[in-house]
This record gives sequence, C-alpha cells and structure tokens, in this order.
Amino acid sequence: MSETNQKPKTTENDPTKTVQQPQTVSGESDERVREEWRNYEFDGDAKLAVEDLDVYYGDDHALKNVSMDIPENSVTALIGPSGCGKSTFLRCLNRMNDRVKTARIDGSVALDGEEIYQDGVNLVELRKRVGMVFQSPNPFPKSIRENIAYGPSKHGDIETGLLARLLGRSNEDERDELVETCLRDAALWDEVRDRLDDNALGLSGGQQQRLCIARCLSVDPDVILMDEPASALDPIATSKIEDLIDDLSQDYTVVIVTHNMQQAARISDQTAVFLTGGELVEYGATDQVFEEPQSQRVEDYISGKFG
Ligand SMILES: Nc1ncnc2c1ncn2[C@@H]1O[C@H](COP(=O)(O)OP(=O)(O)OP(=O)(O)O)[C@@H](O)[C@H]1O
Ligand SMILES: [Mg+2]
Repeated sequence: MSETNQKPKTTENDPTKTVQQPQTVSGESDERVREEWRNYEFDGDAKLAVEDLDVYYGDDHALKNVSMDIPENSVTALIGPSGCGKSTFLRCLNRMNDRVKTARIDGSVALDGEEIYQDGVNLVELRKRVGMVFQSPNPFPKSIRENIAYGPSKHGDIETGLLARLLGRSNEDERDELVETCLRDAALWDEVRDRLDDNALGLSGGQQQRLCIARCLSVDPDVILMDEPASALDPIATSKIEDLIDDLSQDYTVVIVTHNMQQAARISDQTAVFLTGGELVEYGATDQVFEEPQSQRVEDYISGKFG
C-alpha cells in the first residue's frame, strides 16, 4: 500500500496533522471518492466487470458512476446503509432492473467479457447464468422435489421423451439425480431426503432458504446473487447459510448484500462499501477494508458512527 493511499491520521496534539476535512451535518466528512480506494487488484479473471454504471429511478439518481471488477469463484460482499443502492447494484448484474418501469441504466456490465446490456441478450439465459436468492425465502407452493426440478424441466435441461428412453434413462432417474445433487450442494439433503414429496412451505425458514439456493443451483449458474439471504433467519440457520456460501464459492461467484458487518467480515473475500448517495466509496480485500479502511467515511460507517 503506498503512502498516498493512507488515510490521514489526525490527533489533537500532532503538529503534523492534516487539515481536518469539513464536516456535514450528519457528521460525515466531505471527502471525495478516490479512484485508488476502489481499485481492487486481484489474481485471476474478472467474472463480472462493471464500468461507469449509473442507475436512475425517474429523477432519482440511485447509483453514481460505479465501476468494479468481481473476481470469479469468490465471495464479494456489498455493504452500506439503507437506501445506498446495494440491491439496485445487485439487480443490475442480471438485468432484473429491466423489470422496473422507471429505471434507466447507463454504463456497462460484462459477464466473462461479454456485455450484458446490449441488444439481443437472452434474458432467460442470462438469469440462468446469474441466479438470484432473495431476502425472504420464496419457494413455490409445490413439493420439495418439484421446486428443484421445475427450472431445468422448463428450460429443457432434463432430457425428456424418446431420446432419453433410448439412452436407457428415464426422466425420473435424471430428475431424481439432479434433485439429490442440488439438495446436497445446498446442504439440505439429509434434512429432507425422506420427505421430497412434502410441500416446501412446510419447511422451516432456514430450510426454505437453502431450498431456494438449491433451486438456484438447479439451472447450473455461474454467478449467485444474494440479497440479505440470512436476515430473516435465526443464528443457527444463519451459520448454515454462511457455511454453505463458503462452500459454494469454490465453484461459483457469489455476490452478497448484507447488513451484518460481522457476516461480511466472516464470509467474504472482498468487500465493496456503498454510502449514501449511491456511491461506491471503497472496494478491496475484506481484511483491508475492515481493518484499515482508506476512507474516513468508511471507517466511521464500519465503526458504527453513522448509518
Ligand atoms: N423500484 C424502485 N422505484 C423507485 N425507486 C427505487 C426503486 N428501488 C429502489 N429505489 C430507490 O433507489 C435507492 C436505492 O435503493 P436500494 O433498494 O438499491 O437500496 P439498498 O441499499 O438496497 O437499501 P436497503 O439496505 O434498505 O435494502 C433508494 O433511494 C430507493 O428509494
Ligand atoms: Mg436492499
């Protein structure tokens, strides 16, 4: 880390202290967002490359000129106070904001180097590759088995009909194999293996959330977006989800919004801090962001002084 990257250290009696930054009414210092605070360098490829992303809802400028590269097969945490644009950012990564009538999006998002905001992109395919898990578990009111098998059958990923039969595999075999694999990968199999035909709504909240993760895995995504996936869960269910996220990051690129800073510190490899006004203020290795933030506002936020 270069000298110029260091945040100013100010103490009352230090004659070399830097000039105090002007304070806003909320107590945040009026610092400028600096490129180097957001310039996170990592080995390997960027799974997602976001450049100059602006999002408007009508006249409301919700995200301002956000650029960040997200490394593959790792966990990226997005943190920041309510309303700073975390969910908006997440939804841009699989074009879910296209569904919001008032939303306007400028800028670029590339998945494996391919622009997702260009004409001709198949949104169903995109959302298969970039799956999403929401804050409240939302299983279909169907059996556990059907929750997993629905997506792949709909997309034609389970071989049906004559070809499958000629190859000696019945649809049911293939489906059951897929159901088991996804439930195992979502660390739910042992709890539900004897009740696959029960209605998914009969599961506990934590189990429902893992089922939703299993459902997301069933269409073989590359990226999993999670918007506060554990905020409605008790500590035990939360810790299961956290362990699961850690496992998933071996094979998937996980981007997770969380309000729980300990959770971000525990599970993520890199952390992006958004602050009020829709700015990405700092982005870096999680240890660095939490232990040695470059931005005074980020330090204040992390230490609980505001937000
Ligand atoms: N569908 C929408 N229509 C209009 N404005 C919206 C919409 N969704 C979000 N906004 C506005 O965009 C800004 C960012 O919202 P967003 O939901 O992305 O914040 P967030 O960081 O996820 O907040 P929280 O932590 O509370 O979930 C807010 O000012 C919000 O009111
Ligand atoms: Mg949100």
